Amino acid sequence: MNSEPKKTFKALVAEKSGNTYIQSVKEKTISDLPDHDVLVKVHYSSLNYKDALSATGNKGVTKEYPFTPGIDAAGVVEKSSDDRFKSGDKVIVTSYDLGMNTPGGFGQYISVPGDWIVPLPSGLSIKESMMIGTSGLTAAIGVEKIIKQQIGPMDGSVLVTGATGGVGSFAVGLLSQLGYKVIAATGKMNQTDFLKSLGAAEIIHRDKVTDIPDKPLLSGRWIAALDTVGGEMLDAVIRQTEHNGVVACCGNVLGHELHTNVLPFILRGVSLMGIDSGIALMTDRMRIWKLLAEEWKPKFLHKIHRETDLKNLPNEIQQILQGNQVGKVLVNVNSR
Ligand SMILES: NC(=O)c1ccc[n+]([C@@H]2O[C@H](COP(=O)([O-])OP(=O)(O)OC[C@H]3O[C@@H](n4cnc5c(N)ncnc54)[C@H](OP(=O)(O)O)[C@@H]3O)[C@@H](O)[C@H]2O)c1
Repeated sequence: MNSEPKKTFKALVAEKSGNTYIQSVKEKTISDLPDHDVLVKVHYSSLNYKDALSATGNKGVTKEYPFTPGIDAAGVVEKSSDDRFKSGDKVIVTSYDLGMNTPGGFGQYISVPGDWIVPLPSGLSIKESMMIGTSGLTAAIGVEKIIKQQIGPMDGSVLVTGATGGVGSFAVGLLSQLGYKVIAATGKMNQTDFLKSLGAAEIIHRDKVTDIPDKPLLSGRWIAALDTVGGEMLDAVIRQTEHNGVVACCGNVLGHELHTNVLPFILRGVSLMGIDSGIALMTDRMRIWKLLAEEWKPKFLHKIHRETDLKNLPNEIQQILQGNQVGKVLVNVNSR
C-alpha cells in the first residue's frame, strides 16, 4: 500500500520529555504510517478532549510514544487497495483506533482500514464535516436517543451540561434548531451571549444543577438531558429528570464513577442511555452523518468553530485540558 514510502508530510508529534509530554510539528514519511488499506490525504481534523489526553501521555488512551493524536480526520483518498474506495474519494474517519494507537488526524496523511471510513455525504464539504467532527457526531447520537424515546419539543425542557464545550455547544445548537427548549448549564456565565446565539432558552450556572438537597428524588426540572460531564453532575441530572424522561450521557470530565440511586428509574421511569461514538456501528454512523448532511444540517457551525493550524494546536490542547475551551477547534493541517 505505502508505495511512496519516502514521501514526507507534517504531523504534530507528542513525546515524553523528562517528566512531561510535549507536542511539536515534525516531518514524517509515509512509511512511518501503519500499512493499512487506505491512504488518506487529510485536509482537516478537529480537537477533542480525548486528543488532549493522548497528546499529554494518558496511557489509557495511547500506549506508545512518540505519537500523532487526532481521533478525527477528513480528506481525500490518495491510494486504496480496498475496492470500496478509490483515489479522489472524499472521506471522513472518526474514532475506532484513529488517534489512539493508530497515528491520527493531526498529521497530513493517515493510513486506515477501509472499515473505518465513512464516504463524505453529498450535503457536506470536507471542512464542514470536521466542524462537526466526533463532538458533533456524539451530540447528534445523544439527540437521536432522546427523539427515539418519543420526547418531542412540546414535552418539556432539555438540559445540556458542559454547554460551552465541543459536545455541549453542538448539542445546544442542534436541539435548539430542532425546536427544543434548551437549558444550558455552564461554568462560564460570561459565555451567555454565545449560548443564546446557539438558541439556548435558559442559561444557568452548573452549580444550580448540583447544589441540591441530598434526597434520592427531587422535583423534575427537565424531561431530557444530554450530560457531557459525568460524576456528581450526572447523578444530580438524573434525580431532577421528569417522569419518563431520558438522560443521555457521554462524558467523564468529573471522573468515571457514578454514585446514584434507583428511585429515579423505578419510581419515575427515567432512562439513562449511554453514548459511545467510538465504536458506533457503521450503519448508525452513516445514518447520523446523513442526517447531519440533510435534515439536521447544522446552521450554527460558523458560531461554534475556530480554526487553528498544527503549530498552534499545543495551546488549544492546554485550553481544553483546563476546561476553558468554548465551542470547537477546527484543525487545518495544511495551513502554513
Ligand atoms: N462517549 C463518547 O462517544 C464521547 C465522544 C466525545 C466526547 N466524549 C466525552 O465527553 C466529554 C466532553 O467532551 P468535549 O469534547 O465536549 O470536551 P470539552 O470541549 O472540553 O467540554 C467539556 C466541558 O465540560 C465543562 N467542564 C469542564 N470542567 C468542568 C468541571 N470541573 N465541572 C463541570 N463541568 C466542567 C466545561 O463546560 P462549561 O464551562 O460550559 O460548564 C467544558 O467546556 C469528555 O469527557 C469527552 O471525553 C465522549
